[in-house]
Amino acid sequence: MSTSKQIAIVGATGLVGTTMISVLQERGLFSKDVRLLASKNSAGKKINFGSFEIEVEELTEDSFNTIDVALFSAGGTISKKYAPIAVEKGCIVIDNSSAFRMDSTVPLVVPSVNSDALENHNGIIANPNCSTIQLVEAISVLKKYTIERVIVSTYQSVSGAGQKGVDHLQSEIKGETPQQRISPHQIAYNTVFHSFDNSPYSEEEIKVKNETKKILSMPDLSVFATCVRVPILGGHAESVYVKTAMEMNLQTLREDFSNSSSIVLVDNPQDHLYPTVQHSNGRDETFVGRLRLETPNELHLWVVADNLRKGAASNAVDILQVLLEKNLFILKKTA
Ligand SMILES: NC(=O)c1ccc[n+]([C@@H]2O[C@H](COP(=O)([O-])OP(=O)(O)OC[C@H]3O[C@@H](n4cnc5c(N)ncnc54)[C@H](OP(=O)(O)O)[C@@H]3O)[C@@H](O)[C@H]2O)c1
Repeated sequence: MSTSKQIAIVGATGLVGTTMISVLQERGLFSKDVRLLASKNSAGKKINFGSFEIEVEELTEDSFNTIDVALFSAGGTISKKYAPIAVEKGCIVIDNSSAFRMDSTVPLVVPSVNSDALENHNGIIANPNCSTIQLVEAISVLKKYTIERVIVSTYQSVSGAGQKGVDHLQSEIKGETPQQRISPHQIAYNTVFHSFDNSPYSEEEIKVKNETKKILSMPDLSVFATCVRVPILGGHAESVYVKTAMEMNLQTLREDFSNSSSIVLVDNPQDHLYPTVQHSNGRDETFVGRLRLETPNELHLWVVADNLRKGAASNAVDILQVLLEKNLFILKKTA
């Protein structure tokens, strides 16, 4: 697929931004006309792409004058300030931050699950949290059994916290004091929780719960999350329990997961075949395995994905591709 739309990446030098560049290239959506935006620290930096190079520009209020669609991955503060400016200029924003996810006027979209929500966008479209994306992609397969309760425990890599998370872990492994931290605790050889904000639940746990209900359009669904940061660089794993009103059986469940084009079922533990984060590295699918029925109405499963691709960049580009296929663009205003 190619496009005549002018694309910008906000946060192009970050972990998600550089992964977005890779995914756009792989899908034939990248050209020398793509605008790469970041902070003033990166302005002027040149990035080579085979036969051409692109200079990174500082993000300013004028950055969106000629842009049709901007993929934002520079954090919530930047999104809150610049996304409305971009939309005012006729640019669609696909935002990776949490700034707009729970705004009732903003679609929160995993295209394999709820692409219809894109039909009603008002300029800003939110990309869910990385842990949420792989969870809803897996459990949406079970919607036909009427999901009543979901309990998820996550095992999340440090790259989920951006370059700062990677730097924190790598410094500690080298025996150095990290210049940047994502936890007051040591991360190397340890397990820690995400940050808390006057609540017994971490911010990540609250995001997983609320976003899952919104994406599945099940506001009364019972979702309980325990989110854990583990000392690996990339890939998130999740242990998931799902209770359903209707009975399930393993053979049909295997067919259900195998029939989903966005899921890879790896489930033969006797031969050591189950999803690991190494399976998911560099892949755009969600990996599912260890299917175990505790009762006909209670399923346990293991869900793994590449947080930078499936959990962020690839999902954002999937959204862009649906917008292109359905021509869901807004009229460009003059600058
Ligand atoms: N990492 C994940 O797995 C993941 C998953 C889902 C969603 N997200 C979300 O995606 C966003 C980016 O995450 P990341 O992991 O890519 O973080 P990151 O590696 O720390 O990258 C941050 C990016 O933001 C840019 N930036 C910072 N301040 C800026 C400013 N004042 N103006 C313009 N650009 C600025 C940085 O540019 P400089 O290089 O110039 O500083 C860099 O390009 C966050 O909102 C995060 O919550 C991340």
